[in-house]
Amino acid sequence: MSTLKADKNLGLAGEECEEITSKGAGYRGELLKASGIKKSFVTGSVVSEVLKGVDFSLKEGEFVAILGESGSGKSTFLYIAAGIDTPTEGSVRLLGKDLSEISDKQLAEMRRRDFSFVYQFDNLVPNLTVLENVTLPLVLDGRKESEYGERVDEILTYLGLGDRKNNFPRQLSGGEQQRAAIARALVTSPKIIFLDEPTGSLDKERGRQVMELLKDINQTRGVTLIMVTHSEAHAAYATRTVRMEDGRLVG
Ligand SMILES: Nc1ncnc2c1ncn2[C@@H]1O[C@H](COP(=O)(O)OP(=O)(O)OP(=O)(O)O)[C@@H](O)[C@H]1O
Ligand SMILES: [Mg+2]
Repeated sequence: MSTLKADKNLGLAGEECEEITSKGAGYRGELLKASGIKKSFVTGSVVSEVLKGVDFSLKEGEFVAILGESGSGKSTFLYIAAGIDTPTEGSVRLLGKDLSEISDKQLAEMRRRDFSFVYQFDNLVPNLTVLENVTLPLVLDGRKESEYGERVDEILTYLGLGDRKNNFPRQLSGGEQQRAAIARALVTSPKIIFLDEPTGSLDKERGRQVMELLKDINQTRGVTLIMVTHSEAHAAYATRTVRMEDGRLVG
């Protein structure tokens, strides 16, 4: 699909901007560091230890794929790495900040400006159009349409959604919904995008297109990506693959 091809003028996280923020923030190229992450869930009297000591480091510019069996704790780890859930033990440094030391407000601000999350399920707000869904993080951040309108249009075109922006999510195919979720993740020019099975509900061809797109976002925009997938073929698009095995990340 030609609309998924590279367009270097979108104003996403560019190299210049990476340099300045990276130096200023003091994380020296290591965007994420998770150390000794343990997570247990208690259901009634049953305690299940899902993560048993995960150590993981994500460098600027990487595209890391996380593989692992269903129920192995991949989503749980991604939520903890992005500050959506908290670990039972261990620490996460995201963009130079220890997530246990920052306020909810600071974390919310980082989520609006510095990183994005594409969920495994229920990505879009059903009663908002594609355009409203995609611009939601910008609206919540108090940005003006005059600042972002043109760039959002460019991103929607880049993702092949130029003619779908006034549709509601239920009027879109699964692939279009996933691409709309990726568009929403991109509009804030994040340094990192966390993606939980972005191709999970797609057929082979749509899945391949989304992977090509992610590879392009990583290579030409320099956006660092961390993606959970079940597919070895999709993991091959990444620059590095790790596996969730017995509550730890290996590889
Ligand atoms: N809030 C919760 N309460 C209790 N158990 C939970 C909770 N969240 C996750 N779990 C359990 O933790 C384990 C890991 O779940 P998780 O969603 O991280 O797996 P996953 O590797 O992402 O699986 P899948 O590939 O199917 O998405 C599962 O056994 C799940 O049932
Ligand atoms: Mg999962």
